Amino acid sequence: MKALILSGGTGSRLRPFTHSTAKQLLPVANKPVLTHCLENIRDAGVTEAAVVVGTHAAEISQVVGDGSAFGLDLTYLHQDSPRGLAHCVQLAADFLGDDDFVMYLADNVFADGIAKAAHAFAAEPSDALLLVQPVADPRAYGVAETDADGRVHRLVEKPAEPATDLAVLGVYFFTSRIHRAVAGLRPSARGELEITDAIQRLADDGAVVRAEHYDGYWKDTGKPEDLLDCNRALLGRLPGPAVHGDVDAASTVSGPVVIEPGARVRGSHLVGPLVIAAGSTVTDCTVGPYVAVSRDCVLRESAIADSILLEGAAVDGVPALDHSIIGRWARIGRSAAGHQLLVGDHANAEVAA
Ligand code: DAU
Repeated sequence: MKALILSGGTGSRLRPFTHSTAKQLLPVANKPVLTHCLENIRDAGVTEAAVVVGTHAAEISQVVGDGSAFGLDLTYLHQDSPRGLAHCVQLAADFLGDDDFVMYLADNVFADGIAKAAHAFAAEPSDALLLVQPVADPRAYGVAETDADGRVHRLVEKPAEPATDLAVLGVYFFTSRIHRAVAGLRPSARGELEITDAIQRLADDGAVVRAEHYDGYWKDTGKPEDLLDCNRALLGRLPGPAVHGDVDAASTVSGPVVIEPGARVRGSHLVGPLVIAAGSTVTDCTVGPYVAVSRDCVLRESAIADSILLEGAAVDGVPALDHSIIGRWARIGRSAAGHQLLVGDHANAEVAA
């Protein structure tokens, strides 16, 4: 089996971060979402994968390279603009040939892997196996209608009035029969070639399309609150403390706190779960729970909870930073009078009333 990893798109709902990087490279628990995806693909026994990339191709190849660090042999496929998930299958037709493949939306996190689903696809032949999970608001997803035995008979992309609460998750297993279904598709109302339309075609043609409940933790990290939710979930799975950085005697550490070698903590209270990456310094702060601090951040005299700090972020003299994502090399400081904000394009800032 091969893998097709979809890492293009615009990431407009994650601006301003996606002005300078791909949404799939944003970190949860200090690891890019795309890295979680590559590890899951490898752990499912796949070695050959193609990655569809768009405007952020350079940043993506800088981080994942030829895939060898993940035990994968990666081929890059350039998509000129986000023309839809089924367009990605068309782009990859030569790479995929007649092989079965797993299509993985690289902004989706499957914290419990996909190996079980890959086994299910191998064990019970079908032309498509979808993973589904009930969600509170299915209108943001592809929505599946299934029989009692798990056969899918209807799929609708982002319906205004969903017939079920079963969201289609971002991992799909296909045989080569999908190539006929994507050929000749017409763009949907939102102008994309929809994989849901192609799968509906398969089902209408009598192909076996099955849905399997994913019983692990799953999140589409398409929006800031989803990234934070995912960050909490993955930090919540930290096995225990691992303090390898330099923490002074005036600091306290409680719960699962991971401090990488090369991080420095002075006079601070760290409440796990949290991670602090190499090169970061934390001085006179209260940090945690659920905080992920990337490399080279500088935190001083602040209290930070439930947040993601990207590389090089600085927070100085902020008494209660909560539920926040701070961009690369961004700085939050204190001002003597009122709020002084220098907020980038499409950014979102909320200050205490
Ligand atoms: O997360 C699950 C949902 O993913 C499914 O329930 C929907 O049926 C499916 O259409 C998809 O919906 P999204 O609106 O969340 O898809 P998004 O545009 O975010 O794209 C998913 C991934 O594929 C993301 O990593 C970007 C990439 N992509 C997307 C498009 C449209 C590409 O590489 N090329 C594209 O043309």
